[in-house]
Amino acid sequence: MEKNTKQITEKLNGAEETKRQFLFMEKAKEYVALLEQELGRKPTCCVTTFGCQMNARDSEKLAGILELTGYVLVDDEDADFVIYNTCTVRDNANQRVYGRLGHLNSLKKKNPHKKIALCGCMMQEPSVIEKIKKSYRFVDLIFGTHNIYKFAELLVAMFENETMIIDIWDDTDQIVEDLPVERKYPFKSGINIMFGCNNFCSYCIVPYVRGRERSRNPKDIIHEIERLVADGVVEIMLLGQNVNSYGKNLKEPMSFAQLLKEIEKIEGLERIRFMTSHPKDLSDELIQVMKESKKICRHLHLPLQAGSTRILTAMNRRYTKEQYLALAEKIRKEIPDIALTTDIIVGFPGETLEDVEETIEVIKKVQYENAFTFIYSKRTGTPAAAMENQVPEEVVKEGFDKVLQTVQETARMRVALLQGQTLDALVEEVNEQDPTLVTGRLSNNTIVHFKGGKELIGQIVPVYLKECYGFYYLGEIMNK
Ligand code: SAH
Ligand code: SF4
Ligand code: F3S
Repeated sequence: MEKNTKQITEKLNGAEETKRQFLFMEKAKEYVALLEQELGRKPTCCVTTFGCQMNARDSEKLAGILELTGYVLVDDEDADFVIYNTCTVRDNANQRVYGRLGHLNSLKKKNPHKKIALCGCMMQEPSVIEKIKKSYRFVDLIFGTHNIYKFAELLVAMFENETMIIDIWDDTDQIVEDLPVERKYPFKSGINIMFGCNNFCSYCIVPYVRGRERSRNPKDIIHEIERLVADGVVEIMLLGQNVNSYGKNLKEPMSFAQLLKEIEKIEGLERIRFMTSHPKDLSDELIQVMKESKKICRHLHLPLQAGSTRILTAMNRRYTKEQYLALAEKIRKEIPDIALTTDIIVGFPGETLEDVEETIEVIKKVQYENAFTFIYSKRTGTPAAAMENQVPEEVVKEGFDKVLQTVQETARMRVALLQGQTLDALVEEVNEQDPTLVTGRLSNNTIVHFKGGKELIGQIVPVYLKECYGFYYLGEIMNK
């Protein structure tokens, strides 16, 4: 059976839909139990995330349902059920998926019970679905970003059908609450505060694959955080493509700054982070709330994308170089211990090396603690893809190398300013290279490694910042 549903058959309200999905989870449990009998052991599953924090949060929701239905979560793609949660923001994300699917097929040939599912942003592109239907027939289940809440139902359909199931929706206005989630970390968690994006930056595919902006109800957000805190979470990351426009489309509008104030009141919650802020919507109210807060971390990710106003206009970013610089200066002045990080794209259509020099000028002025630099990737269907003046590869490479070098130099200098201070770090994990060390994160997002054991994981401890190594520190734990 091939289901290519674009219609929503019956429209239920959120709470009813949640109930309905729990019924499907019960049904899926029966199938997983049958599979367990056949295998003589518990079936395993592996959820692989390819994209951003929002994509990672979706993976936790998938994992929550899989665990509840009786699967054992593993990291190995040799598992009985593998699901790829894909990303399509740049072409290399897509290529990684295609590359790894070949390997999954060879594993499937050895394990007749193995099932493979694909979901996430890449699946919202019709050309991708065509390609998978043609060249990757061994995939069992494909769904998109808008119907992820129906995963339990789709899982049941997968067990009941031999052929590939495809269920992709064009859009949705539905937000379904209270489905199970299996967190990667016990002490920190991402939380969606909004979905989708309305900004249509001309290079970006996200608005096409994630749909229109929808904010979650503040009560649902607060309840979710309260439950997480009761379950041991001390740090949360509020997630949205543009958190600064949170609440504009709610029945009772509310600003992001107001939401933060409400969240601050939650007892037991220690740290609040958020991602991402669009510079055009960053309000003075938000700067004040951050400044006065005891819990909001001293870190702001403020994507620049480009330093030339001409390119920013063509990108539809809706701010100028001067406006961005003034904003960064204001933030640094109001909150001197804040770390600023950014995203930069090099090689947008029509960008010259003179334009890139303007990006470099902004990097030098703002002195980011870190910056993610990307080579422009042409995304079919976006306005920039149709622009005629695509930049030759050698020119992009030259500009990219220069930007990267500047970022590294300025960040090194900036991060080194903390040397000799003692600051609180949330311990996240035992160091992978050296098991006598643990890795912690400062409020300003800088990483510090120091001697300690796994009993410290999840604790916030004071750490003396002894030596700076570029983007991270080696430190020493101090007595509380
Ligand atoms: N909503 C966030 C960004 C989400 S995508 C924001 O507006 O800041 C994360 C980053 O990917 C973007 O900030 C941008 O730098 C980069 N990006 C998006 N589309 C891209 C493309 N077509 N080519 C290269 N980089 C891109
Ligand atoms: Fe993409 Fe712009 Fe929306 Fe960010 S704000 S997701 S870059 S369209
Ligand atoms: Fe990628 Fe989708 Fe996130 S395209 S960056 S996973 S919103």
